[in-house]
Amino acid sequence: AHGGLGSAHGKAILMGEHSVVYGAPAIALPLVDLQTTASVREADHGSISSDLYTGPLEGAPARLQPVITALRATVDRVGLSFDSFEIVISSTIPLERGLGSSAAVAAAMVRAVSNAAGVALSPEETFELVQVAEHVAHGTSSGLDAHAVRSLSPLRFQAGIPTPVRVGAPMAFVIADSGTSGSTSAAVGGVRMLRKTRPALVEGIIESLAGLAESAIAALGAGDANALGATMLSGHEHLARLGVSAPALDALVAAAADGGAYGAKLTGSGLGGCVLALVDPDQADAVSDAMMAAGAAQTLRTTLPGGQKET
Ligand code: MEV
Repeated sequence: AHGGLGSAHGKAILMGEHSVVYGAPAIALPLVDLQTTASVREADHGSISSDLYTGPLEGAPARLQPVITALRATVDRVGLSFDSFEIVISSTIPLERGLGSSAAVAAAMVRAVSNAAGVALSPEETFELVQVAEHVAHGTSSGLDAHAVRSLSPLRFQAGIPTPVRVGAPMAFVIADSGTSGSTSAAVGGVRMLRKTRPALVEGIIESLAGLAESAIAALGAGDANALGATMLSGHEHLARLGVSAPALDALVAAAADGGAYGAKLTGSGLGGCVLALVDPDQADAVSDAMMAAGAAQTLRTTLPGGQKET
């Protein structure tokens, strides 16, 4: 083993966060402008270098434990020794904003280590190793993020199975970062508690979110931004009823709608993090300005390329 490189990208969830944990379909979008890279090279002692911490593997802070646990599993899997690496991680994906940073860091690391070992892991093996990190980071994980950060096409994900989604016409999005972080384990745990105390309420919301995911897939295929925007606004309402929104997120959704977006919703596990707005490209500046005025720390843009409309 000498050295190896790996990368992965960010993701946004278009529909189905939380309900996906209970078997409903979800849709994830690739955010290819947000990249994480990992490079691994032989060294005398195990060390890690990232924005969070640089130093020996043993002294790494709790926030790096997910990737370090997965590193251990990956090294075992490919037949290398844990203490013989320097691993350098750099990432432009904001942390704890629901944009897939934890899964992307793990995916980049798994690729870098397997490349260093000269071992070609199957997609399933790579997924399992990324899930090691996701379980440490979030307690539980549907597997959506682990697939989404490695897929260049939008994905439908249900019951562990990812399938590519057809996009009938280009779709432009503005993502607003609320500037506050949301804990995925807290959000997922909150929904689990609510489902225990109010099962009928939560099952009803999950069913509605499942229907909205199917509507969103149909709208994407038809290239119908009006229909997709409407499903997003409805999705946000349902997520708010699950208790995973926050005043800052509600304010950003309202600002996007007032600013001319087709629709907007929180994206990712919620409580903090980001709002995803679907816009006409000509309105992107206005929607971005409206969300900045409503308290966003920053906004970013992404466009899904789309092919022929269905006839
Ligand atoms: C987090 O990005 C998505 C959630 O649905 C959790 C999961 O899928 O495990 C909130």
